[in-house]
Amino acid sequence: MGHAGLSGFMNVSIAMLVIGFTVLLLMVQFELGPMGKLSGGRKWLLTLILGSGMVAFSIKLIVIATLLNFPKQTIGAHLRAQQARPPHATVAPQYAVYDRSVGGSKPYVWQVLPEVAPAPAWNPTTPEKVALGERLFHDTALSADRTVSCSSCHEVRQGAGMDGRRTSLGIGGQSGARNAPTVWNAAFQSVLFWDGRAASLEEQAKGPPLNPKEMGMPSLEALVQRVREEVSYREPFDRAFGVGRPITITQIVAAIAAYERTLITPDAPYDRFVRGDASALNAAQLRGMELFQSVGCVQCHSGPNFSGASVFDKAPNTQRLFPVFASQRYVERYRLTGDAGGNAAGSKQGIWRIPSLRNVALTAPYFHNGSVDSLAEVVRIMATVQRGKRIGGDERTIVWSRQDRTLTRADAEPLSERDVQDIVAFLKSLSSDTLLARSREP
Ligand code: HEC
Ligand code: HEC
Repeated sequence: MGHAGLSGFMNVSIAMLVIGFTVLLLMVQFELGPMGKLSGGRKWLLTLILGSGMVAFSIKLIVIATLLNFPKQTIGAHLRAQQARPPHATVAPQYAVYDRSVGGSKPYVWQVLPEVAPAPAWNPTTPEKVALGERLFHDTALSADRTVSCSSCHEVRQGAGMDGRRTSLGIGGQSGARNAPTVWNAAFQSVLFWDGRAASLEEQAKGPPLNPKEMGMPSLEALVQRVREEVSYREPFDRAFGVGRPITITQIVAAIAAYERTLITPDAPYDRFVRGDASALNAAQLRGMELFQSVGCVQCHSGPNFSGASVFDKAPNTQRLFPVFASQRYVERYRLTGDAGGNAAGSKQGIWRIPSLRNVALTAPYFHNGSVDSLAEVVRIMATVQRGKRIGGDERTIVWSRQDRTLTRADAEPLSERDVQDIVAFLKSLSSDTLLARSREP
């Protein structure tokens, strides 16, 4: 039973209480009262005494129900089930039964990333396209002054698929307005870019070449011309798309997208844990996993790719307000509202695509503006501005949630610094073994 189940229970309890009271009142007024020849005042006194017993009993029931049904329960049962399994037993990825409604009555289901990224029917992933796409991705000829390739900002061979800068550097040393997200696992996202404005990898790949601050090509025709000029491209295009067909922009972006669909990391400790290796996560990470669920991070960062904007969502709710709860301190310090993303310019709350948290420990700095360096600080900010949590000694606030249309006191139970560190530990379990090993190489 989740929060909604619990509040349903409370509603029923309150209704029962009201009915009980009414019956009691009628009983005392018309049965017990006349029987015991009680006066008006005494009748009321008797109602009150009998009623208070009823209230105490109801409170007891509510407390028991709360203790039994708190959301922690769902992961506890899951952990026990995991531990009961022999290590390394393979569990099929569960995205078919995926249910993101943690507020609903179903428990949250933790899922692993599939070994293959889905591709659109018109652009199946073939080894020939992947090889061609890899070359294009690393080719500086795709930029106006031949100095910048996709990999300049998305370092995939040595790095974690980004550039480590707050905001990216394009041609002529120009810096853009946004941080470069990693391309690892972008193949599992249903919409791309921080604000979710591209609907596919193919569509996305047409963006950077034309962006004057990134690759600065005058037109897609000019880009196609660049590739046609390079005779050594003829053969790989023939192999990928059929002999002798003229090179087109559709082929170029199809090959790049096919390559990006191989940039996936289903090899994190988290995946090993969910597949049945109970030793893959340590105690702090398990505690962090539980908190990630109970604090409500899973309301947005859900499913195998830790994003509600992924291909696993049947009815994706891809973009969210950020910040949901105003915290002047964080908003000012990190300029969180300078760019409103998908919202109207100047809005106090931006609208942003929910990012994946896979490999997040390897992709600092964070947020659309790259303003935060430490993952622990990001967790504090997220808990505060997205969940209305207090951290340690923060002041208590009354908050209005436009999404839930409720006025609530910011959480009574603050998140401790240890809680924050444990959530960070859990987030580290989302780092790919391969990428992590590579990042540790000298
Ligand atoms: C100058 C740096 C730069 C170059 C060059 C560049 N990108 Fe990016 N890339 C970015 C930035 C910055 C963003 C985020 C922009 C935004 O959201 O508005 C981004 C976003 C993306 C995303 C979306 C990831 C996600 O999680 O939504 C993909 C995929 C991507 N780039 C692939 C490419 C490809 C393919 C190329 C080459 C054709 C390329 N990029 C060239 C900086 C760069
Ligand atoms: C209401 C939806 C929502 C909730 C709840 C939420 N997040 Fe986020 N999260 C987002 C959005 C949207 C962003 C992108 C913010 C931006 O524009 O930079 C984000 C960004 C992040 C990032 C930075 C990713 C990056 O690559 O820069 C981390 C880490 C993160 N969230 C962790 C958490 C944790 C931990 C929790 C629980 C305490 C949480 N989030 C709760 C929506 C949410």
